[in-house]
Amino acid sequence: MADSRTTTLYALLTAAAAAGAASTVVCWHLLNKSKSKPKSKSESSSNKPTSSQISHGVTELIGNTPLIRINSLSDRTGCEILGKAEFLNPGGSSKDRIALYLIEQAELRGELHPNANNCIFEGTSGSTGISLAMVARAKGYLCHIVMPSDQAVEKSQLLQRYGATVERVPPCSIVDKGHFVNVARQRAAEHTGGAYFVDQFENLLNAQAHYEWTGPEIWAQVRGRMDAFVHGSGTGGTIAGVARYLKEQNPRVRCYLADPQGSGLANKVNHGVMFADSEREGTRRRQQVDTLVEGVGLNRMTRNFARLFSTTTRRSKGGPGSGSGSGVADADAVRMARWLVAEDGLFVGSSAAINCVAAVRVAKMLGPGHTVVTVLADGGQRHLTKFWSDEAMTGLGHDVQAPASLDEFLG
Ligand SMILES: Cc1ncc(COP(=O)(O)O)c(C=O)c1O
Repeated sequence: MADSRTTTLYALLTAAAAAGAASTVVCWHLLNKSKSKPKSKSESSSNKPTSSQISHGVTELIGNTPLIRINSLSDRTGCEILGKAEFLNPGGSSKDRIALYLIEQAELRGELHPNANNCIFEGTSGSTGISLAMVARAKGYLCHIVMPSDQAVEKSQLLQRYGATVERVPPCSIVDKGHFVNVARQRAAEHTGGAYFVDQFENLLNAQAHYEWTGPEIWAQVRGRMDAFVHGSGTGGTIAGVARYLKEQNPRVRCYLADPQGSGLANKVNHGVMFADSEREGTRRRQQVDTLVEGVGLNRMTRNFARLFSTTTRRSKGGPGSGSGSGVADADAVRMARWLVAEDGLFVGSSAAINCVAAVRVAKMLGPGHTVVTVLADGGQRHLTKFWSDEAMTGLGHDVQAPASLDEFLG
């Protein structure tokens, strides 16, 4: 296993706003919410309540999540450390946003037709699948999800409860035709009815959803006053979209990548080479990325992440804000998650935990008085048998006690 202290890192994404991207921002979500839905005969003739507080179905519950001050981290660092509570989305994660956005974009292009046996296919570590399955149900589509078999079993159970077809396949390299993304693409090609392969890793509408939706929400919530944004990268959609939006509002906002151990992205950002320490040591526990953190960390460039990288990253020159270090160790993710429950009553998943470790480190680098925003992508409920199982974690050699102070995360 990679050394927990020496492999810690943030990569600064200095992003000058992407060239040519400064066109007027259309806040898709707001437009979407303001769309007036055609009324059915029964709706228009009834005396049903019509308050603007009533959402038209589950999809209108997506987004507009609160930004919460994480008191324990803020008080101890002297910074405002704010977490976007994406676990409050109806499907339980930030992935609800891209599920809705991508499906509605496909509908606009005429690729999906509701209640016509059309099927949505995706390869996903789980969260995106759950969100797609939920939106698919709400909109009248079938859903077929392919996921790696080492992901927490709660995710496939949830998918099944949402009525999705679920395939769990052994983890393997993306060049292998058995990789979950390749299997999903293949299943879509084989489908006889209408099929939509979402392709969240390569589909640039993923980052666009966060550029038009998550980024503007954060900026409005902090009223334009923030110093840094910290996030991990799975598909790269969140960090690419949000960082681009924030940088366009104020180029001085610093954007950092929080990268789990075993991922090559941080090294790619800082040194131009996709490489993880665990590769050198040859101690991988699984083929893709040697971490127990789910949803983030990769050893290949996705189109979403590559776009961000090519337009907004700069190599480390050392010092606060210019990026240095490596990924967040699993041991720190496990203990940060326990800390957040013990101190704040916040029960989050593993990607949120590494974001919080990274946010504390960024706060310490910047010094008191700064505002650091991160994302709490999902809750702990869907990680009960793995990341949140003390038995499973101690079995892997992790300390499951909340640390006595934040200093233990500083490395
Ligand atoms: C729980 C969780 N957090 C974070 C991410 C990373 O977000 P993105 O894919 O936008 O990089 C994912 C991606 O699947 C996820 O499932």
